[in-house]
Amino acid sequence: MNQLEKLIKPNILALQPYTSAREEYQGTEGVFLDANENPYDLKYNRYPDPYQRELKSKIAEWRSVKLDNIFLGNGSDEVIDLLIRAICENGKDRILSLDPSYGMYKVSAAVNNIPIDLVPLDSDMNINEDDFFSILNESHKLIFICSPNNPNGGVIPAKIIEKLLNSTDNLVVVDEAYIDFSDSDSWCNRLSEFDNLVVLQTFSKSLGAAGIRIGMGFMNQYLVEILNKIKPPYNISVPNQEAALDRLNELERINKLVGDIKKSITILKKDLNELSSVDFIFPSSANFLLVKFHDYKKVFSTLIDHKIIVRDRSSITNCEGCLRISIGTETENLKLIEVLKSIK
Ligand SMILES: Cc1ncc(COP(=O)(O)O)c(C=O)c1O
Repeated sequence: MNQLEKLIKPNILALQPYTSAREEYQGTEGVFLDANENPYDLKYNRYPDPYQRELKSKIAEWRSVKLDNIFLGNGSDEVIDLLIRAICENGKDRILSLDPSYGMYKVSAAVNNIPIDLVPLDSDMNINEDDFFSILNESHKLIFICSPNNPNGGVIPAKIIEKLLNSTDNLVVVDEAYIDFSDSDSWCNRLSEFDNLVVLQTFSKSLGAAGIRIGMGFMNQYLVEILNKIKPPYNISVPNQEAALDRLNELERINKLVGDIKKSITILKKDLNELSSVDFIFPSSANFLLVKFHDYKKVFSTLIDHKIIVRDRSSITNCEGCLRISIGTETENLKLIEVLKSIK
């Protein structure tokens, strides 16, 4: 049994997966009488490719990874849930993550009835290495590290992630939803070094395609095969696969827009820092700023009065008085600052 196989729940190892009709014949030409579809050439009368081969080959080329190391989910949220379902056994295994961080790790853990231990970040949102490694133990079969981290945008130092990968044989998931806004290297470049590394990225942020719900999991081929066994057979629809391919054909435009967003964040940060209502802005390498206001309730409601919606993060760890503000277009950012200036 290889090291990764030991991580998989016995019922998943034993599972005889559903084989979809489109798995047996991979050609696109033919008389398809195998899937009980409507035969007439209506738009979308055929099921999608269950393994999204064309899309994956484009992603493989773009991210310089092997096609066999890619798993696609209905958003990263589906990949998070499938990883928990494949690996964590009720009554035995636990999940480890940081607090605050992306809320779905906790929700997916709860849905699957798996306890999650959350190591608090310090008040500057830095990871406390000693605390983290003293809490980490063998029962933590899955460890979620979000970098840049949501809700503050800080990057988790590479040397800590590397130490973590070397300290455990269990699975370390680095969620890089916001990586394209940062200057950090992707952990995708280190996949071949660590069998226990999973990198998550998404079409929802830099690629500007949140509506098509496609999350990318980069991981050892064995894990891709396990997730393929348990995913719903046609988890990415035909129009969504097509839209994703279209988006990857306009990367030049996307890169320019990401560059614009990165410039806007610097401007917005400077403008916010000049406002008397702002107490503190957390350093961010993502497309949002976590801002502590002197009176966040007043700020939040004034923004709502002007139909500007930001995310109230005041009730989560270390975020007292904080609102999370996504970077908008230049015009939207100017409008935001104009309304904030009016608050006395
Ligand atoms: C860190 C992080 N991971 C994953 C997601 C969800 O990604 P997707 O839209 O691909 O489900 C989000 C969404 O906000 C996020 O902040």
